[in-house]
Amino acid sequence: MSKKAVVLGVTGSIAAFKACDIASGLKKRGVDVFCILTKSGAEFITPLSLEALSNHPVVTDMFNRESPWEIEHIALAKRADVFLVAPASANFLAKAAMGIADDMLTTTILATRAPILIAPAMNTQMYLHEATQANMKTLRERGCRFVEPATGLLACGDVGKGNLASVEDIVEATMALLYPKRDLEGKRILVSAGPTRESLDPVRYLTNRSSGKMGYAIAEAAAERGALVTLVSGPTDLSVPNGAERVDVTSSGDMFSAIDSRFDCCDALVMAAAPADFTPETVSAQKIKKGSRESLDITLKPTRDILAAMGLKKSGQRILGFAAETENLAENARAKLEKKNLDMIAANDVSKENLGFGAEQNAVTLYRRGGEAAESGVMEKRALADWLLDRLFE
Ligand code: CTP
Repeated sequence: MSKKAVVLGVTGSIAAFKACDIASGLKKRGVDVFCILTKSGAEFITPLSLEALSNHPVVTDMFNRESPWEIEHIALAKRADVFLVAPASANFLAKAAMGIADDMLTTTILATRAPILIAPAMNTQMYLHEATQANMKTLRERGCRFVEPATGLLACGDVGKGNLASVEDIVEATMALLYPKRDLEGKRILVSAGPTRESLDPVRYLTNRSSGKMGYAIAEAAAERGALVTLVSGPTDLSVPNGAERVDVTSSGDMFSAIDSRFDCCDALVMAAAPADFTPETVSAQKIKKGSRESLDITLKPTRDILAAMGLKKSGQRILGFAAETENLAENARAKLEKKNLDMIAANDVSKENLGFGAEQNAVTLYRRGGEAAESGVMEKRALADWLLDRLFE
């Protein structure tokens, strides 16, 4: 069997020299590495270093007559089992998001069907710029994975987010994509995600800010690891993760029924949805008219707590709940863990900017019955999904 291959794209960043350690880290793990160095990347390191470490010619120029990949960049795109770009500059992210193919790296990445992993490195302001964030969002939505930059003292003297993630983290993330774990084979996992909508009248409803991203990431991770996944989803605009079966629901009551009827034959329930706690006591059959009203009172009645009900009837299932809090995180989360009879609860502070609802990253504190709390640190939701599944099934 031929070795697994990683195509490593190196762009113009002061962190480009770390690509040498990444290439040799991957080689040590038995992976064949082919490097593509952009023109700006070559201002920071020489093709020769990467050539010596990878034992393959390094491509820097589309039109280099000596390059074996010159006509065959498609072959390189096909040869990749994982396409890694580390460090990835803001310029690379912009070009990749737009599908611009004006050099060897951007051309090859357009032609590849391999999973793409990107480790950005740049100045904090460039990283946080709306354009860079929008480009990363586009790439994520297309299925690209990211290894988050670290926070620290940057080459420009600023302190902030933008340092290339550690070489070990990048090598580990690459290995995880090359050899996906199948440790959940045969497990049946029920995952809930997204908000619910509680109707007031034919045109209005009450909802919340849940985007569904955390639950979808968990469903995707579990399916990739071999589990049989049923995703009970409130309204979101996310697409069904590969390999998962999706059951669409609208209200908190619908979500209750969908989960209740599937719970008995599952091995685990991950309740990442944000079902409404209250629903209008009556739903007006006709549109509620403004008329000459000075105010409008709506009476709400409580919905059923899905987790608490499943916690009550569980017989061997593992249950992971979430706690979205804006204050007293530990106290509130531990109380929910006990009250709802859960095995673990992932608590997050939703008042933090760039984390929680709608964000691409999240950070949770995981509380277990009778166990120590564990901090995940800030992670991509997809990486956090694996982190949570590792602990739910350990
Ligand atoms: N949950 C549920 N059924 C509900 C409401 C919430 O199963 N009707 C689940 C959520 O999916 C989450 C956990 O309960 O996994 C905690 O949700 P959260 O909104 O943080 O807490 P609540 O129990 O609703 O309590 P409060 O709103 O007072 O914080």
